[in-house]
Amino acid sequence: MTSLPLAGHPSGRAQAIDPSLDLEDEIARLKKERNAIVLAHYYQDGDIQDVADVVGDSLQLAQAAAKTKADVICFAGVHFMAETAKILNPHKAVVLPDLTAGCSLADGCPPDAFAAWIQKHTVNGEKPIVVSYINCSAEVKALSDYIVTSSNAEKIVAQIPEGKKILFAPDKNLGAFIEKKLGRKMEMWQGSCIVHETFSEKKLVQLKERHPGAPILAHPECEPVVLKMADYIGSTTGILKTALARPEKEIIVVTEAGILHALEKAAAEAGIEKTFIPAPPMASCACNECPHMKKNTLEKVYLALRDMQPEITMPAELMTRALAPIEKMLALS
Ligand code: 13P
Ligand code: SF4
Repeated sequence: MTSLPLAGHPSGRAQAIDPSLDLEDEIARLKKERNAIVLAHYYQDGDIQDVADVVGDSLQLAQAAAKTKADVICFAGVHFMAETAKILNPHKAVVLPDLTAGCSLADGCPPDAFAAWIQKHTVNGEKPIVVSYINCSAEVKALSDYIVTSSNAEKIVAQIPEGKKILFAPDKNLGAFIEKKLGRKMEMWQGSCIVHETFSEKKLVQLKERHPGAPILAHPECEPVVLKMADYIGSTTGILKTALARPEKEIIVVTEAGILHALEKAAAEAGIEKTFIPAPPMASCACNECPHMKKNTLEKVYLALRDMQPEITMPAELMTRALAPIEKMLALS
């Protein structure tokens, strides 16, 4: 038996995992035994994506959580994603392999400051329409009128009647992208993603010089200077579909590096020969990898299913308030 140090495991002690165990087999056995599913985001390590029942973008994973018949959801993603799955399934157990897997966007939008911001923009008792990116806490969701993801934000904001004041939080880059697309002014919370803001315009220009025929596919969490260079801007699933559909052999991908596993796998399955080139971050670091997403490991997925923890819990009243804007999003998507 070896002891693996597993920071963030609720037991607070290193967990002993028998090294002779085949973790993939064990996860498959536990899924069956517990009637559990594993939902994984594209930014998870490849070995986690490979044991998942659904791999997708934030919207697809919320939709999968909303319709699952499983009794247990193991959410291989970050905290706000697992929280959303729990809000949609208050009577099911939702486990997150590492409870400390957060998100710079969610962490940069504290509910008290968010409530004060809404109050500041409420004039003569007229409350603005509050649109929040799904990358936020349950408390922030509960204060919002609509929840959106990178794949439906444009469609949902477009349905808000003209003349209504809109507050958009917490990602200023996604907000600016929507604002530009719709020609609609919004008040923006000044949050950003620590991963997507590290992509450098200068390095992207140099990369494009070396691969002039390769289109640039970028996530809307990137800064406007980077998005200006993109041939396509969309969610992780949008990037994946576009990358496969484009005729070019070489594709430049400007998002978290975990998506390369899904891209390569999908291209191989479709029998398409492609080279995916990850956009370089500013410094020579691995900062195109999300440190929060990467806290989850296959070992922690196994332990979460075995021990049924760390489990997501919230007050029932908070879940009820946060559910309304999520349900609106699902209905409008
Ligand atoms: P999508 O997969 O919905 O595009 O979101 C990206 C992201 O940053 C999730 O944290
Ligand atoms: Fe949050 Fe950015 Fe990580 Fe996504 S990639 S979870 S937005 S910090």
